[in-house]
Amino acid sequence: MSSTNGYGLLKGKKGLIFGALDDRSIAWRVALACQREGATFALSNAPIALRLGTLEKLSESTGAPIIPCDVSKIEEVEALMDKVKDELGNVDFILHAIGMSPNVRKKREYTDLDYNYVQQSLDISAVSLHKILQTAVKKDILNDGGSVVALSYIGAQRIFSKYSDMNDAKALLESIARNFGSRLGSRGIRVNTVSQAPTITSAGAGIKGFDGMYEFADRLAPLGNPSADECADYCVTLFSDLTRKVTMQNLFHDGGFSTNGISEQLMAELEKLNALKDGNE
Ligand SMILES: NC(=O)c1ccc[n+]([C@@H]2O[C@H](COP(=O)([O-])OP(=O)(O)OC[C@H]3O[C@@H](n4cnc5c(N)ncnc54)[C@H](O)[C@@H]3O)[C@@H](O)[C@H]2O)c1
Repeated sequence: MSSTNGYGLLKGKKGLIFGALDDRSIAWRVALACQREGATFALSNAPIALRLGTLEKLSESTGAPIIPCDVSKIEEVEALMDKVKDELGNVDFILHAIGMSPNVRKKREYTDLDYNYVQQSLDISAVSLHKILQTAVKKDILNDGGSVVALSYIGAQRIFSKYSDMNDAKALLESIARNFGSRLGSRGIRVNTVSQAPTITSAGAGIKGFDGMYEFADRLAPLGNPSADECADYCVTLFSDLTRKVTMQNLFHDGGFSTNGISEQLMAELEKLNALKDGNE
């Protein structure tokens, strides 16, 4: 970010930010970037996360109210929207930065999934976007011309073995974003997913093999892995009026990883490994 004071891109806008747990969370960084750009917003997370995390600190520094909500429970999503209306009024943007797979947490391989866990993974990580949007529309919380961003991962298109059923959850999340984008376009409302590169956060660190995925992506991406703050800056552009005709897209924010075949750095490292192997034979 070249201007620490920001550009006033979100001046006068109001938002709802899901998924800030601690100061490494992408949602936490998005909240700080939104504040820098002049927005006001409410923060939400699951009641258990509010006990384990440090969201209170972010609420104090930004003046944002915290509204607890387990997004897998429709009655909690409905109650949340009523509180948002009371405390903030209608909103112009929503960030969905929510992901959780008990199968990934318990290191269950894709060929040995627990189906109750699969249900939870899909419900929390993907169907929750549907619940949030359906409820926001029914309760008329989202302003015309608004913008919704959900965070995704390239596992939706290409298989990363350790990401287990989250590959499926992200594919469903992206599909829900497209479906709502198609239906809300008549009101000028955009719905997009940002497919972020591996980022060191609580969710990221919980994935077995995360360090390998992180290093591989960083070496293959010509620009290297983007940080959570860089992701936040990108989300700000999507919430702003500068991207009013961008909708139903899955936007890769990955330093070029998704399009690059191989990098000079990776090639040199593989050649070195090969030379070592030849030397040992
Ligand atoms: N970290 C990465 O490498 C990476 C890469 C690409 C995409 N993402 C996505 O970014 C998003 C944010 O993840 P993060 O990396 O900042 O990690 P994080 O752990 O900080 O955020 C995940 C959030 O989901 C919340 N959550 C879980 N269950 C919930 C429920 N039932 N109701 C409400 N909230 C619930 C958690 O409390 C937490 O705040 C996720 O969708 C994740 O899949 C992360």
